[in-house]
Amino acid sequence: MVDKKAKISFQEKNIEVPIIEGTMGKPAIDARKLDQKGFLSYDPGFTSTASCSSAITYVDGENSTLLYRGYPIEQLAEHCDFLDVAYLLFNGELPKPLAKEKYQGIINSHNLLHDQINNIYRGYRRDAHPMAVMIGVVGSMSAFYFDDMNINNLKHRRQSAYRLLAKMPTIAAWSYTYSLGLPFIYPKYDVGYGDNFLNMMFSVPNKPYQVNPVLSKAFEKILILHADHEQNASTSTVRLVGSTGANPFACIASGIASLWGPAHGGANEATLKMLSEIKNESRIGDYIKRAKDKDDDFRLMGFGHRVYRNHDPRAEIMKKTCHDILDELGLNNEPLFKLANTLERIALEDEYFIEKKLYPNVDFYSGIVMRALGIPNSMFTAVFALARTAGWIAHWNEMMTSAENKIGRPRQIYTGKTRRNL
Ligand code: SDX
Repeated sequence: MVDKKAKISFQEKNIEVPIIEGTMGKPAIDARKLDQKGFLSYDPGFTSTASCSSAITYVDGENSTLLYRGYPIEQLAEHCDFLDVAYLLFNGELPKPLAKEKYQGIINSHNLLHDQINNIYRGYRRDAHPMAVMIGVVGSMSAFYFDDMNINNLKHRRQSAYRLLAKMPTIAAWSYTYSLGLPFIYPKYDVGYGDNFLNMMFSVPNKPYQVNPVLSKAFEKILILHADHEQNASTSTVRLVGSTGANPFACIASGIASLWGPAHGGANEATLKMLSEIKNESRIGDYIKRAKDKDDDFRLMGFGHRVYRNHDPRAEIMKKTCHDILDELGLNNEPLFKLANTLERIALEDEYFIEKKLYPNVDFYSGIVMRALGIPNSMFTAVFALARTAGWIAHWNEMMTSAENKIGRPRQIYTGKTRRNL
């Protein structure tokens, strides 16, 4: 039996710490007993720290690999729809046809909101950012759907997961139509997940609306690409909030809040804003220079990733989807897409980006795709939140069933004043 231990020697201390390994990925120092042995570990931003063990998603940043429950993202994006993937993330296997039909029926039977939730929208200014509205409305679900729920009961957790997944498209779409002063369009029972969202976003009561099948397939792909990504900031937020025993609606509302930041899910909106600001190819050099200037806090939005030190596989699929949609819509001369292509090429040839291993991430092209679908910039992160709900509820459920589950309470290296008297 290989002795899976590491030795730490420091001053007069010599300790051994266990090494733990998963089915894939790097081995880890098991730091759980370090404190008792007189040490802490230090890792602001968790650059090299595993916060939990999980069987849901695997990301290999060196080899551009992303697996949902072992299946490569490329295959899932090509052959599945979003509900297949949401089912897979939560249950661990893809649904068989009968199970899928039942699941689709359950989700669509939960896609209406409690009628009083409509009033919550009315409390917002019309120009409120959709993410601000979504945080409030999802958080308020605790007051409508958390009556007699026991989060330690799988059946109750599953029911909450159904409600969150089913209602998110309605909540997101209404956050947009409210801003336009348009009447809320209700979800339908006999329409697919992505199509229901597009219908609630773009149809109006006095005009027929038909989702373009090519755009419908592309939108499902966008949702699949954003569904999960192991322990990213917002998923870690959901887990940390969930570790206190907070109800799932409060957990997901906190995940939405965390995703909103421009360093995370807000990057798609920020990338489009950046491309619009760059305007044309002649100005790319100035922005690349700014991105490299340590005294300038400008960063190339949609570039770089904590884990991917090679291509983000999602960015490649997103770029191809972008091309297909623009083709379908006869927009292949879309200036922003051409600008993004040139910017990507120049950045990838620049020694700064090569040395720091900065590549386009999932957010670099997603904004252009969503804009081509008619989705406004302010809704890009809301779409990201809609998709990531599938991952958040899967991780929340996995955490609730884990024997390792305990309240998350990081330690610190104290750098303040030593004890002194008044
Ligand atoms: C998402 O974690 C996930 O999985 C997230 C996500 C998911 O699906 O959940 O994949 C979704 O959030 C994608 C990332 C979207 N964010 C952006 O596109 C914003 C722009 N990128 C960054 O700000 C940055 O790259 C991060 C936040 C994504 C990653 O930051 P890290 O890992 O903390 O890296 P870092 O800030 O320590 O940067 C390392 C170096 C630094 O230079 P030095 O201090 O070493 O000299 O690279 C530089 C940074 O200045 N750098 C960039 C840069 N990103 C990093 N320089 C210019 N432009 C950039 N975009």
